[in-house]
Order: sequence, then structure tokens, then C-alpha cells
Amino acid sequence: MEYLLNMTAIDLVIGQRKILHQVDLQLSKGEILTIIGPNGAGKTTLVRVALGLIKPTSGQVEMHNDISIGYMPQRLHLDPTFPLSVKRFLSMVGKSQRDRIEPALQEVGAAHVIDSSMQSLSGGEQQRVLLARALMRDPDLLVLDEPVQGVDVHGQSELYQLISRIRDQRNCAVMMISHDLHLVMAATDRVLCINQHICCSGTPDVVTNDPAYLELFGAHAVENLAIYSHDPTHRHNDCDNCCKGESCDR
Ligand SMILES: Nc1ncnc2c1ncn2[C@@H]1O[C@H](COP(=O)(O)OP(=O)(O)O)[C@@H](O)[C@H]1O
Ligand SMILES: [Mg+2]
Repeated sequence: MEYLLNMTAIDLVIGQRKILHQVDLQLSKGEILTIIGPNGAGKTTLVRVALGLIKPTSGQVEMHNDISIGYMPQRLHLDPTFPLSVKRFLSMVGKSQRDRIEPALQEVGAAHVIDSSMQSLSGGEQQRVLLARALMRDPDLLVLDEPVQGVDVHGQSELYQLISRIRDQRNCAVMMISHDLHLVMAATDRVLCINQHICCSGTPDVVTNDPAYLELFGAHAVENLAIYSHDPTHRHNDCDNCCKGESCDR
């Protein structure tokens, strides 16, 4: 099988610290792969190695030739005092791509914020604008680093559905990072669970029953999964500030 991305035996050592150890990762055309793991597990670093932004200490990274990549980084640093409209922000992608701004915003359901300032957007709107920016490159591979962070639980579920829909319509591959344990499972073909090394991998139902997954995320994960599999519409719109829905036991 020909992979879009094939990483083998990746090791990364920075200073004295082993950040990644013997990580293998394969991604096929049109596939959604989600990388999960606790904070500091090396998820962002692994993606940056895949993109060629960090050179691994050892191991191979083979990216298919001539593919276009849309990357949505984990953090966007905007000067809060510098007024910047969404349109202006997206026009920085490149002069030749300005006619893609409106269609991309429409595709992510954010056409109405085109003239708003970036600083005034809600968490969900900001993530949609970042997704639109990644789509403007007409990517064969969409790389999303925690695309639902800062979004309430209801909005998270909508964003994951949107990402699935984008994959279905464009047939692009998606590699995304999440430390969310439940909502993402419905929107992914395969999961790679890492904590420096690969703890487990496979389809969502295989991974969530794997002892390594349960050890890493503990009973908490099981409880959350139970909640969400019993009632997929379970959510508390007002939980965002107290617990982001993760530990809500109301
Ligand atoms: N440039 C760097 N120099 C030193 N340590 C780093 C560097 N980048 C990341 N790390 C460390 O690597 C570990 C993994 O970081 P990261 O990939 O951001 O984790 P995650 O995205 O899973 O939360 C962290 O402990 C972080 O402190
Ligand atoms: Mg990260």
C-alpha cells in the first residue's frame, strides 16, 4: 500500500530528554488519523517532525511527493492591540488565493465573520477561521493540532462533524491531534495513542478497550466514554468555564 505519509522508528532527543521513542506512523489517502495522549506526550512534536519542521534524531519520514498540506497549528499568537479583520488575516495566505477566502469561510460555516476582527471571535469561530485558512491551500493533507481547543463541548462535537464532512467532500487525509477522549472517537478512522512511545493504535473501539489506553487515561476515560455512548447528545452548554465537560458529573 502506498502511504501519503510513512514515518518509521522515529526517535527525538532534545538535550538529555527523549521526547519521542520508536514511533511509527502511517497515513493513507483520505484517512482520518487522530493522535491522542496526555499533555506533554509529544503529539505536537510528532506532527512537526512529520511536516519536516523538526529533524528527528533517527528514523525515516517519507512524505508523498507533491502533496499540498494545510496546517492548523495549536496556538495562534495575535497582538490583542493590533486590529485585524478576518478577511485581512486570511488574505495573508497569499495574493493569488484571495478569491478562496469567501468559499473557504462558507465551507466552515463562518461566512458571517468575514468583516469581524480576529480578536472579537468566539473560540469556535476562531478555530473555524483557522480551519478555513488551512483549506485555502486546497490540501491533500489537513494537519490539525487540537482543532477544538477553547471550544465548548457542543461546539467541539460540531467541529468534529465538520472535519469529517470536509474529508468526505474533499477526500483529503486528515491528521489531527486531540487530548479529548470521547467526542473525537466518532469522527476518526484510526487512533494513535502516544506518550513518548506508541501506547496503542487502531480503530476507536479497539483503542478504547486497550489496557494501555485505560492505564494512560484511567477510569476517567471509561466514565466519559460511558456517558457519551449512552447519550450522544449529552452536553452542558454552560460547563465551559467550570470543567469543559470533561469532568462534569452533573
Ligand atoms: N524545542 C523544545 N526543546 C525542549 N523541549 C521541548 C521542545 N519542544 C517540545 N519539548 C518538550 O517535549 C515534550 C512534548 O511536547 P509537545 O509535543 O508539545 O507535547 P503535546 O503536544 O503532546 O502536549 C514536552 O515535555 C515539551 O516540554
Ligand atoms: Mg500539543
